[in-house]
Amino acid sequence: MPVIHLVFVTIMTQITAQINYIGVNDHDLDLFESQYRIPEGISYNSYLILDQKVAIMDTVDAGKKDEWLQHLESGLQGRQPDYLVVHHVEPDHAGAIALLLEHYPQIQVVASAKALQMLPQFFEGLDLAGRSLAVKEGDTLSLGGHTLQFFAAPMVHWPEVMVSYEQQEKILFSADAFGKFGALDIEDDDWACEGRRYYFNICGKYGAQVQMLLKKLGGLDIQAICPLHGPVLNEDLPYYLGLYQTWSSYGVETEGVFIAYASIHGGTAAVAEKLAEMLRARGVPKVSLSDLSRDDQAEAVEDAFRMDRMVLAASSYDAGVFPPMQEFLHHLQAKNYQRRKVGIVENGSWAPSAGRVMKEALQAMKEIEIIEPTVTIRSRMKKSDLPALEALADALSK
Ligand code: FEO
Repeated sequence: MPVIHLVFVTIMTQITAQINYIGVNDHDLDLFESQYRIPEGISYNSYLILDQKVAIMDTVDAGKKDEWLQHLESGLQGRQPDYLVVHHVEPDHAGAIALLLEHYPQIQVVASAKALQMLPQFFEGLDLAGRSLAVKEGDTLSLGGHTLQFFAAPMVHWPEVMVSYEQQEKILFSADAFGKFGALDIEDDDWACEGRRYYFNICGKYGAQVQMLLKKLGGLDIQAICPLHGPVLNEDLPYYLGLYQTWSSYGVETEGVFIAYASIHGGTAAVAEKLAEMLRARGVPKVSLSDLSRDDQAEAVEDAFRMDRMVLAASSYDAGVFPPMQEFLHHLQAKNYQRRKVGIVENGSWAPSAGRVMKEALQAMKEIEIIEPTVTIRSRMKKSDLPALEALADALSK
């Protein structure tokens, strides 16, 4: 693991002589996208390029618009902005556009045609006539010394997304790509932990589109990446690019077994713990567990993609599978979980049904190999269950 240099920013911060960070931290939001836990907050990044022309690179969430406007006004040093470059219209980045245009009506909004078409959906009465510039792949925008080159990045994470490459200082403005959960005033020496949870839950479904973007960027000399969330990345770039290659190709990052369990009264949880013990005893390099009823399911999704093997252990419920496991299977399918080996443990007190439902869901995913034997527990694990569990541990640790 390389030493990771992070840039901590709380207010306007200089990235280069003419490029400033003017984003904001959000510690007030309870759930990102109303679904993801963010115990360490999140940042909405925005940048300001002061050249012969002045360009603002994205705005922020409406909840933080006043604070952002202060950062912008301080960064402008009395100058007037010429362009607002919109890489992505999702409200966490485009939420302050109407306010910005009220303050600076002369600004030209630079975005993809799709973004310009979508923007008025978010702001009733927004009229961009005469003050928008549609750009497409390969177009450039000169600011004086700095030149922005645009690349389409559809579905990374929405269809209108583009990224831009500033040719003079070799900086990539990467939109959601290379973002992470966590505000920038929180100390964090492991970018990958929240970077991975962010990637798989936000962009995981769109691996093919991320691969296309990485291919397009492959020929560029990139000295820094300025994402829309998380720190500016200006060291060890091959490390981050390598992780994105692995993640977007659904490759294995860590050899090991991830055990996800959904247990009603603790019986299935005890089996999951016992299996973890057996796997560790067999020398499996990493074994981790998640209680799908209580732990963060977004983190469970991340661990499922991170490792090469997984075990699903669940109680039967209403002739199906216990709902926390049903929900997890839904997330895995939605995020394109694939190319992994999976073992199954089911529990049932009278008519076990969890194994069938889990198998059916896995069979609908791409290149999933079910590792036998499927282990069936009746209510509580007994001595007579151990041989089957040992056999599953053997098969998983081969
Ligand atoms: Fe950070 Fe897709 O918005």
